[in-house]
Amino acid sequence: MARSWHLRLAEKVLFDFDVEQLKTLLTTEKFDNELRRQALALRRKFYGNRIFVRGLIEFTNHCKNNCYYCGLRRDNRNLQRYRLTNEEILTCCREGYGLGFRTFVLQGGEDPYFSDEVLVPLVAAIRKEFPDVAITLSVGERSRASYQALYDAGADRYLLRHETADAKHYRMLHPADQRLANRIRCLNDLKEIGYTVGSGFMVGSPGQTTAMLVEDLRFLQKLQPGMIGIGPFLSHRDTPFGNEKNGNLQLTLRLIAILRIMFPCALIPATTALATLAENGRELGMEYGANVLMPNLTPECQRSKYSLYDNKVTTGIEAAGQLAALKQRMSAAGWEIVVDRGDPVSY
Ligand code: 5AD
Ligand code: SF4
Repeated sequence: MARSWHLRLAEKVLFDFDVEQLKTLLTTEKFDNELRRQALALRRKFYGNRIFVRGLIEFTNHCKNNCYYCGLRRDNRNLQRYRLTNEEILTCCREGYGLGFRTFVLQGGEDPYFSDEVLVPLVAAIRKEFPDVAITLSVGERSRASYQALYDAGADRYLLRHETADAKHYRMLHPADQRLANRIRCLNDLKEIGYTVGSGFMVGSPGQTTAMLVEDLRFLQKLQPGMIGIGPFLSHRDTPFGNEKNGNLQLTLRLIAILRIMFPCALIPATTALATLAENGRELGMEYGANVLMPNLTPECQRSKYSLYDNKVTTGIEAAGQLAALKQRMSAAGWEIVVDRGDPVSY
């Protein structure tokens, strides 16, 4: 089998697997080296050894949703909630800009306080002060009109993971008022409006099967996102999934390689969840085809409260202030961190 991929890869760059191939690849370690080799070759072809960095600002941990897997869910009473003011968020951007970041990711729970009346002027203020940065939003499901207003104010990218493409599995992970159909409506609206869209899923979430992972990959093939974020599911003690087992490191890495081969031009981060599962998770992610890192610009006093899962790493090279150390660590592994908006390349 490995030989036939090789031949097809030589014939054309756009690369596809059929369902049976995907099932085989996902259930054995046998092809991991070959997958990694091909993923790295494609990464190199399109992005060289460059790594893009994004300054992550987790600006509110309030959330009106109740996803069973997430520590920010509204029923978690053990979490101290915080919300940055617009001025504090702008201060994070200034610090990030000074450090060399040219993409800011504003991520939050679905916090009703950040209505369009609050969020649109904030995006406009960031756009005005930093005309040369990419503004990425990650604030969940909203109306099409809201996505349009935020885009018009200057947002360019939007992260919204689909979490699972299987409707029954979606219902296992979320209460009934959260619907896969609405998530997909949001993703389509975002694309049509003109955002560079990011989607993705957790690896090893409770109830996930190999067939579901195949569905996730095929869903992404239809969506053709510019960015794809995956990370292992990690349990959080104050959620209904507190006793579920964590996602598997090797399967996550294998999926990063498969995604790189299926989407050679995509921006794929080595996520914080991966770095939480393994001390060298960031580097491992890069070795399997990832090309983005998202250090944290959130003020230190709030950072630990953005508790999606237990033991989330927030210090050391996770902190945006340690960019120099991150550069050093990555260059030791052969990668070059660049100051750039880091837009996806096209074929
Ligand atoms: N483990 C891993 N990832 C999680 N996320 C939320 N909770 C967890 C968890 N327990 C991910 C979801 C969400 C993103 C912001 O974080 O995929 O989309
Ligand atoms: Fe809220 Fe997002 Fe966590 Fe769900 S995953 S509870 S929407 S922050």
